[in-house]
Order: sequence, then C-alpha cells, then structure tokens
Amino acid sequence: MPCLLLLVSIKPSILIRMKPSLTLGILLSAYVTPALCQILNIVAHQDDDLLFLSPDLLHYIQSGHKVRTIFLTAGDSGMNANYWQGRERGARAAYALMSDAPDIWTEKDAGIPGHEAPLFTLNQDPNVSLVFLRLPDGHLQGQGFDVTGNESLQKLWEGVIPSIRTISGSSSYTKDELLKALISLMVDFGPERVNTLDYVHPYGDGDHSDHHSAAFFVAEAVKSYETNPMLMGYMGYPVINETANIAGTDLLEKQLAFYAYARGDPAVCNSHMACQGDQYYPRWLEREYRLDGGPVSNAGSPQVAGLNALVTLDGSLSSDPKHLPLTYEWVQVSGTPMDLMNADTNHPSFMTPNEPDTLNFELIVTNGGIKSAPAPVTVTTMRHPENIALKAKVTASSANTAANQTPDKAIDASTGGFPAEHTREWVSIGGKTGSWLTLSWESSPQVVSKIALYDRPNLDDQITGGVIEFDSGERIDIGELNNYGTATSFDVEDRTVRSLTIRITAVSPSTMNVGLSEVQVFGSSVS
Ligand SMILES: *[C@@H]1O[C@H](CO)[C@@H](O)[C@H](O)[C@H]1NC(C)=O
Ligand SMILES: *[C@@H]1O[C@H](CO)[C@@H](O)[C@H](O)[C@H]1NC(C)=O
Ligand SMILES: *[C@@H]1O[C@H](CO)[C@@H](O)[C@H](O)[C@H]1NC(C)=O
Repeated sequence: MPCLLLLVSIKPSILIRMKPSLTLGILLSAYVTPALCQILNIVAHQDDDLLFLSPDLLHYIQSGHKVRTIFLTAGDSGMNANYWQGRERGARAAYALMSDAPDIWTEKDAGIPGHEAPLFTLNQDPNVSLVFLRLPDGHLQGQGFDVTGNESLQKLWEGVIPSIRTISGSSSYTKDELLKALISLMVDFGPERVNTLDYVHPYGDGDHSDHHSAAFFVAEAVKSYETNPMLMGYMGYPVINETANIAGTDLLEKQLAFYAYARGDPAVCNSHMACQGDQYYPRWLEREYRLDGGPVSNAGSPQVAGLNALVTLDGSLSSDPKHLPLTYEWVQVSGTPMDLMNADTNHPSFMTPNEPDTLNFELIVTNGGIKSAPAPVTVTTMRHPENIALKAKVTASSANTAANQTPDKAIDASTGGFPAEHTREWVSIGGKTGSWLTLSWESSPQVVSKIALYDRPNLDDQITGGVIEFDSGERIDIGELNNYGTATSFDVEDRTVRSLTIRITAVSPSTMNVGLSEVQVFGSSVS
C-alpha cells in the first residue's frame, strides 16, 4: 500500500462538488485529513539522508509524520572517534533544526535482540528519532579501512567476510544477523514507507560502496518484513550528473539542515560562502532523484495574507525528471476549509476567511502515474498583513558594516542570514547583552498588531531574552528566540506607536555577535 495521503473524512457535499461538470475547476477535495504515515529512512552515512533523500525528508518532518532514520555505518572514514561522534552530533543538530525543536535528545537502546545500538529521540518532538548502528565505513570502493580490519558492508554482502564488527567492537553481525536486525527495527517502528539509497544499480557505478550496500540490505530486509511497506530508493553520488531540480525555500531549508550537520563534520563545507568553491556538496544539495522516476513537489514559500483576500499558492517549482507534464493535487490539512479555484493547476487560489487563521496545504504532483512525496505550505492570515517595518527608519547599538551586515538588513524583507545569505542580516560588532535595534516611523504614528523577530539563523548566536520598548513607555518581554532563524511572534493588541526598540537582555553562552536576520511589524499607518 503506497503511503502518501489517505483521504479520510471527505464530506459528502465535497464529493458532489468534485463532479467533472463543474466549470470553475475542481474545488479543493477538502476538507481531508491526511493519514500521517510512519517514515523509516535507512542510509549508510550521517549526511546521506540530508543530501540525497531531502527535501522529501524535510517535508515529512515538517508535516508531522513519525520519522526515524537508521545510519548503518559510523561514517568514520577510517578516522578516530572524535570524527564520527561529531558526525552523529551533526545529524542530531540537523534533525532538531528540521523539526524546529531544541537540539536536546533522550538516548536509550534500540532493542535489537543480541546487539547494542543507540536510539535517540528528540525531546520536544518524539516523532523524530535516530538509530546509529556504527558499523565501519567501507570506503568508496568497499575496500574498507586498515584500522577497522578492512571490513565493509560490501564484503559482508558479497560473502567475502563472514561477519562485520561495530566500530567499538562491542557487537558483530553476520549477513543474516544484519538482515534480522533490520527486520526487527522495522517491526519495532512499523513503517508504511521505507526510504533508502540506490538498490537498483550495481557497485562501481560512481556511487559510494556503502550507499549501495545499505540499500541492498534494506531491499532484502523489506522483502522479508511481512507488512510490505512501500520501498523507495534515492540516487546517491550520481545525481550530480542530473539536472538540478530543487529550488526556492525547499533548497534553502535543505541547505540549512546540511549546514547544521556540517558543524559536526569538519570534512565538509558548512555555509553558502564555504560551499561556493566546492565541486560536490552544493550540487548534491540542488538535486533529489528517486529510482522510480517520481517527480518532486514544491509548494512554494510560506505566505502572509489579509482577511477576505485573494491568495494564490505556487507549485511552479515542482519538477519532473523527464520533464513530463505534471498533474497537481492540493489538499488542505488544517485551518478553516477553503474552496480552491484551479486546484488542479500549479497556481490555485482562494479567498481567505474573515477571521485570523493558519491554513496548511500540501501539494502532491504526479507524472503519468507516479506520485511525489507531499510538500507542505502555510498561509497565515491576519487583520493587518502589511509589514510596516519596511517603512521604518532603523538604528542599532552597533553593526558589522565591513561585512555588509547593517541595521537595515533587519528590515530588508529577507529572513536570510549566516550560514546562508550572510549579507541579509543585521549583526552587531561583538554585541551581546545590552545591544539594541530601534525602528521609528517619523511621518505618522502606526497601529501595531503583531511583531515577528527572527534570530540569526546560525546555531551559535542566539538571543535568549529581551524586551520590546514602545515610545509610549509600554514594554513587553520577549523570551528566548527560536535559534534557527525562524519567526518568534508576539501579539501586541493594536497599540499606536511612533517607535519601538528591541533591547537584548540575555544571550546563549556561545554567542559572539548578537543580531537579527529580520524584524517584521504587522500593522497600518494611522491616517
Ligand atoms: C506526531 O505524530 C502524530 C501522528 O503521527 C501527529 O498527530 C502529531 O501531530 C505529531 N506531533 C508533532 C509534534 O508533529
Ligand atoms: C588492509 O588492507 C591493506 C591493503 O591490502 C593491507 O596492507 C593491510 O594489512 C590490511 N589490514 C588488515 C588489518 O587486515
Ligand atoms: C558524471 O559524469 C562524468 C562525465 O560523464 C563521469 O566522469 C562521472 O563519473 C559521473 N559521476 C558520477 C558520480 O556518476
């Protein structure tokens, strides 16, 4: 049973509306509740999932699916424990970022009979978990590394060695035991969908030996796992020779998850700047290719809209590997049910409700029968959707002018900042507690209903406390801002102001230069 979206609770009236005689285009087949499938990813190394299975991976996490990833090798590359432990920390940081949760995990044993392997569960989002089997990295051609006895998964798969030891030597697996271990992990998690690397092409095709080995083991294990989950393979290194097909917000979020990982892996580039001269990572990040030739859905960027306003969604960055025409299927998954016009196109539209709301949609695209994974998008509606910060004059306690990280970058309509677009954020010079940023509107007073603050997206610098002071003398406390550069919002009840100051009163211990990647102020001018 393919596990994508199961349409349940369709209202009878909707079925009538979906008759083809309808001339306005098919109305949204809403209101549907997607069945949230359990997604199990099994890959070789701690960045394979981030490079080759994403943005599907990112989308499954964002839309609340239960997602577990199993890493078969330690990803040691023949190096010491510091190196592979860093990569595991990097994997945890990336998953914390993708689920927008603090990087705090609970560790227990994965429960494979007769074998030890840690299972990490994200504290704030227990739907996200990681298992590390810590088998030795097999090297590009499966030759293994001297320090781990030249053992490799390929040699185990091909019967060259009778068993393989974990990197700490605490456990060992024969081929049959490893298959049984994978089946027991599947039974324990109950996936409806298992994603892995390339189990179709042979060793020596330009991909890493461990990628194929992991996928061969997974495909074999899935055959013996009774409930028959859907198996999906993703191309590894050879995607580099395919057309780039990931763009927009999906690409940026995929890159940011990889950069979070890269903090733990000194062997890879870890920012837009550092990746610029790199031949591989930026190109892998721009691609995702499935073995079944399935298309990739892209539901566009999150939107803010007014009440009773026309909103157009944008699925135009969706792509098909063979450039076949796509069919578009949008479903609404939360919020007041909307009637979508042109719901079977890449630009459906609808009128927003007359009360503030958060509307979540998902897009699935199909190319002659093969469906993409779902891509989510959020539309937030509010009474005053205009971002009046864009009209303000801005000053700050200090700014890194040399790096082009000036105060106006906090109101440049871009939430970008290091490690991606570092010239799109305001950064103080060594500022910590006591730093401030002021917005003022000299021409007329403003009615302000909501303020959204975006911390610098890098994981080291974080505002953990502050106040917003209005010229009226009123002030509101802001606690810790989200550390990943996503919005932390404050409702401020339509107060009339001429200026406001964001004053920072606490920062994380690792903070070097506090700043903000964006400040949005929703309101309107008092005419
Ligand atoms: C976790 O998954 C369940 C069901 O799969 C879902 O209802 C819930 O919203 C998810 N939780 C989060 C924090 O996403
Ligand atoms: C690993 O292989 C290399 C090259 O064949 C060989 O020189 C070395 O002795 C092997 N190491 C072990 C531990 O078997
Ligand atoms: C990409 O194509 C080039 C040129 O045909 C080839 O040399 C290279 O091996 C290919 N890379 C991969 C990873 O398949």
